Amino acid sequence: MAGERKPSYDITVIPGDGIGREIIPEMLRVVEATGVHVRWDQHEAGQYALGKSGNPLPEATLASLRRTGVGIKGPTGTPIGSGFRSVNVAMRQYLNLFACVRPVKYLPGVSSPLKNPEGIDYVIIRENTEDLYAGIEFERDKPVTRMLMQLLRKTTGKAIALDSAIAIKPISASASDRIVRYAFEHAKSAGRTKVTAVTKSNIMKFTDGLFLERFRQAATGYPGVEAQEMLVDNFNQQIQIWPQQFQVAVMPNLYGDIISDGAAATVGGLGVVPGANIGDTCALFEAVHGTAPDIAGKGVANPTAILLSAAMMLRHIGEKAAGDSLDDAVARLLADGSVRTGDLIPRNERGKAATTKEYTDAVISKL
Ligand code: NAI
Repeated sequence: MAGERKPSYDITVIPGDGIGREIIPEMLRVVEATGVHVRWDQHEAGQYALGKSGNPLPEATLASLRRTGVGIKGPTGTPIGSGFRSVNVAMRQYLNLFACVRPVKYLPGVSSPLKNPEGIDYVIIRENTEDLYAGIEFERDKPVTRMLMQLLRKTTGKAIALDSAIAIKPISASASDRIVRYAFEHAKSAGRTKVTAVTKSNIMKFTDGLFLERFRQAATGYPGVEAQEMLVDNFNQQIQIWPQQFQVAVMPNLYGDIISDGAAATVGGLGVVPGANIGDTCALFEAVHGTAPDIAGKGVANPTAILLSAAMMLRHIGEKAAGDSLDDAVARLLADGSVRTGDLIPRNERGKAATTKEYTDAVISKL
């Protein structure tokens, strides 16, 4: 309409490493094709950043994310000896991106190892800041490790084998409150009616037990939402035998990491599952998959996961129609099956696979 000015958004983009450098440029083309106007502020993180600036997580990257409040990134590798256990974990901690949101949805046309994948549609909400990911570990045979062993023996009466290394699993009431409330709010706003807490509280009574206690407490504030409890080992099999029973599943950090890849496999693999890391002042969107060193540089990576992450990002900034139409374009392309990347094709037919660029062109043609 004449005189109507379209909004414009500042968004940080981080290509990352490996296939990140192939799928991120394709994602930029697709977002442009949706008609949403973005001023991209490109920065680096990971191995590439280390080579370029000597720092795998430059301050300028964090500063851009703090300024824009929204970012999208390719996967990043953590250089060995960089001082970071993981660039990703460091980013989540620095920016306080406390909730990791991963929708697991079956898209017709994608082959799944399950007999009946139709109707799989749930969201994994993983606590992102603590648990065994806190990075507090004590190395075998170090004096501090021995001191800790002595303290534990004194205070609990329990002896740890002297040749052990030790990791600490902190679970706080405050971080548990924040993530379980986020899960219930997410359910409410998405019109979902059930939230499942996934823990190992029968064994880890104080840590996972605390998470579960905060879940039960939060549930009292959401009488319209069913609060289900499930042990992680059982959840791991239920997502394979009856995944349709789940709507929103909330869990501590490490279980969320492990369960996400298994859940991705049930809906076609890592190439198709998007994600977001959400905090109070910043949101960073990224696929579940990593840098895929085995296929990097070949131009054959599946960009679906980063495109669906971009659709989540568009909805997050208020461009719901553009986000929904991108989801729809991907779903229609996968359903018609004519253009597919190699990861979605049986190994013996991979000669027919589309390249990353051909697949992206096909998505754009469906917008
Ligand atoms: P990965 O996810 O990179 O690869 C696992 C398998 O899935 C490989 O066979 C790969 O070819 C395939 N795959 C993954 N994404 C694909 C796509 N889009 N299209 C087609 N096939 C795809 O996991 P891996 O090998 O364990 O990790 C490799 C590196 O990535 C490690 O350095 C790890 O730390 C990093 N990583 C980074 C993440 C992030 O930045 N968010 C997340 C996970 C891993």
